[in-house]
Formats: sequence, structure tokens, C-alpha cells
Amino acid sequence: MGSIAVAPHRLPVLGHMVSLLRDPLEFLRSLPAHGDLVRVGLGPVSAVAVCDAELTRELLRRDRVFDKGGPLLDRVREMLGDGLVTCPYAVHRRPRRLVQPLFHSARTVEYASIMSERIAAVVESWCDGEVLDVKAQMHALTSAVTAATLFGHTVPGPVQRRMLSDVDRVVAAMMLRALVPTALLRLPTPGNRAYVRAITNLRAALAEIIATRRAEGGGTDLLAALIAAHDGGGERLSDLEISDHVITFFVAGTETTATALVWALALLDAHPAIADRLYAEAETVLAGRPARYEDLSRLPLTARVLTETLRLRPPVWFVTRTVGEDTELGGRSLTAGTTVLYSAFTIQHRADLYPDPERFDPDRWLTAKPSARTGFLAFADGARKCVGEDFAMTEMTLALATIAARWRLRTAPGSDPRPARSATLQPRRLRMRVNAAMPQAGSRE
Ligand code: HEM
Repeated sequence: MGSIAVAPHRLPVLGHMVSLLRDPLEFLRSLPAHGDLVRVGLGPVSAVAVCDAELTRELLRRDRVFDKGGPLLDRVREMLGDGLVTCPYAVHRRPRRLVQPLFHSARTVEYASIMSERIAAVVESWCDGEVLDVKAQMHALTSAVTAATLFGHTVPGPVQRRMLSDVDRVVAAMMLRALVPTALLRLPTPGNRAYVRAITNLRAALAEIIATRRAEGGGTDLLAALIAAHDGGGERLSDLEISDHVITFFVAGTETTATALVWALALLDAHPAIADRLYAEAETVLAGRPARYEDLSRLPLTARVLTETLRLRPPVWFVTRTVGEDTELGGRSLTAGTTVLYSAFTIQHRADLYPDPERFDPDRWLTAKPSARTGFLAFADGARKCVGEDFAMTEMTLALATIAARWRLRTAPGSDPRPARSATLQPRRLRMRVNAAMPQAGSRE
């Protein structure tokens, strides 16, 4: 059995925290140079980063041995409890079976008409010449879609906005909290108190939503399915289980899609020739109206732009797992309890898989298919693969095309494209000026 090289610049106690916080993208990009498996210090916790695409697939497919856990997953669990994203292997199959039918393609067609409505409401609220906080706008858009499609209309606007701001606070703090010693997390600092308060508020809001729906009954959405669900013995999900699943879907369905749309708009602004082609596609197909499900097959460039965005800037950029029993990966032995890390960002920036990997090139998807087999891991793989992949691609394609048919967006002063120190990969700040699209206006200055 070979040994596992340690990534350079590891410090006592801090591990690679300094590199990870100073330039996380460069750190994740640099790891494959040191081997297929590389030892990194997530603060005080020593973890093994998997830098090879095939080994990452193997890790994801052996979900019993490489179970959910490790410092980052543990922080996510503080917010999501034992919902579908975070629950351990031992209990995962039942809730996955329960929600899977809600993501069949027939349901996606139904959801698409609600998505179109909600997207149009946000996109049409913008004014010509206005400067937008793009992260806030994309969050408003995706949270409205998630709430309307998966939970019916039971979440009033102000409650939704409060939940969103609590989610933001928790997600923003997760990465740092995954890197510092656990003892520090329990100190009554203002940051720790605000974090706990945000989780408590979220839970309280959810308890109310669930109670209201229990009282009203009915519905064919996720919440109705969870309330009605029972196993073979007739046992129903407890309120806590339902609450864990609901908060999981709210966060998983909102944060990731919003972040991907933010990056897509930023990348298009930096690549005007591609943006012009995208605008032309949207103008031809939509002529200024919001996109609908039937339009999707006529928006291939829009879909490729989003796939390429997810390759270059995967919202779920790295995740931890914990080894459940002594095992082996890539010819190296890993003992039970070892933390393992996989990163879609690292794999999707490998030059052997993606020639000229830093280039934003949606046309690389003209012939290639975004599949885990070929190293596209933005939605993971195996039994824990994202259940919302089609939902997300449908929503993002409808949103980007609707925006492109109506507006031209340019980065405005006050933006900061550096990655935020957050559990999802997102720019620190993106402000953009919106101007109404002039049909057939030709290329930009
Ligand atoms: C661009 C959008 C999205 C991206 C990039 C994304 C990415 C991912 C990734 C990488 C995982 C696996 C995490 C891990 O390995 O620990 C995951 C799981 C999951 N995602 Fe997504 N996701 C997106 C959108 C959505 C949407 C829209 C929903 C729901 C409406 C959703 C629901 C879930 C759920 C429930 C899981 C857990 C699945 C399981 O363990 O059975 N995601 N997602």
C-alpha cells in the first residue's frame, strides 16, 4: 500500500486553513499535482482529498463505506438535520424512494409552468437602468420557485424572505465553522449566537408552515407527500423528520440554482461574444416573452452556457465524507473514521479531462455529454446524486433565457468577483446594471 502525500504549506493546528481561505480556487486546482489522493488539513482535522475522476466516482458509488460525515457535512447537518442531503446511509433509502416520484419528468413539466410565472414576476420587476444586487435577485427568484413548486403557496413572501436571510447567514458561516476546532463553536461569541439564532428561527418558521398544512390538508406537492407518507407498517414521519426534509429541499433547491445563475451572468458579461449569441437565441425563440417548457428544446446554447458554468463554477465545490469501516481506495488503505473530501471543482478543472480548463467554452458541450463518467460531477453521482438535477436545469434554462430575452446586464462598480468564504462557491458581491434589450440591436460596444 502506498502512502498519501501531504499538500504543501500545511501548518500545525491550522492545517491548510490559510490556503483555503486566501485562495480556495487555486488551492483546489493545485491538489492533483500531488497525487490521486492527497492529505489536506481542514483546520485541525486531517482529510484525504480525492483528485482523480474515477476514484471520485468510486467514492460516490460506495455510499455505505464513504458515508455522509466529516467537518463540512457535520456543519451542514446542524442546519438540515437528517434530511435527504445529510442523512446517513442507514436511513437514506426510504426518504429517497418517497420523494423520487416528485422529480419524474412528468412532474417537471407541471413545475415548469409555475417556474415560468415566478421567474417572469422577478425579471419583470426590474427597471431600465437600475443597478441590481444580483445575488439577492437570483435568491428571490429561486426561493419563489422552490416555495411555489414544492410547498404550494403556503409560504407567504415576508416569511420566505426571513427564511432566506437566515439560510444565507448559516451557509455563509458554514465553511469557516468547518475549519475551526469544535470547542470554539460553542463559545458565546456574537457570530456563534447569530448562527444559532438563524437556525432556531428557520426551524420555528418551518414548524408553522407544517402545522398550517396539517390543518388545511390536501395538495400534491412535496409537503403533502411528506405529511401523507408512511412505511409498510403504517408508521408516519414525525414532525421533526418532515421539518428536516422540508428545510433540506428549501436550501438545496434555492441556494445552488441561485449561485449558478449568478455565475452564469458574471461569465456572460466577461465573454461578450458568447453573450451576444445567447441573446440572439433568446430573441429568436422568445421575442421578449418569458420562456416556457416547450421552448427548452430550442434553447440549446442557453443549456450549454449553464452546463459550462456548472463545470467552471460548481456551486457545491467540495464536500466531506467519513469512512465507515477500514477500506481501500486507489490502492491506499483508509481506516474507519478518516475524513475524505471530494471536489467537483478540482475534477472539473483537470486539463486531461477538459482541455484548456480555465476557458469558458460552452461549445465544448456540442459533442460531449455532461456525465459523471466523463468527469462532470456538479450533481455528484451514485445513490446520493442530486435528486433535483432535471428540476434545476429546467429552472435555470427558463430563467436565463427569460432574462436574456428582456435585458442586457453589465457588471457595475462595487462588485467583488473573488469567491466568498462560503459553503457554496459564489462571488462575494455582484452588482449589475440592467438595460432593456433592443431587439435586433446587433453586437454590443
Ligand atoms: C445547480 C443546481 C444544483 C446543484 C449544482 C446541486 C448539486 C448537488 C450535489 C453535488 C449533491 C450531492 C451532495 C453530496 O455529495 O453530499 C446534491 C444532492 C441533493 N440535491 Fe442538489 N443540486 C442542485 C439543485 C437542486 C435542486 C433544485 C434540488 C431540489 C429541488 C436539489 C435537491 C437535492 C437533494 C434532496 C440532494 C440529496 C440527494 C440524496 O442524498 O439522495 N438540488 N445536489
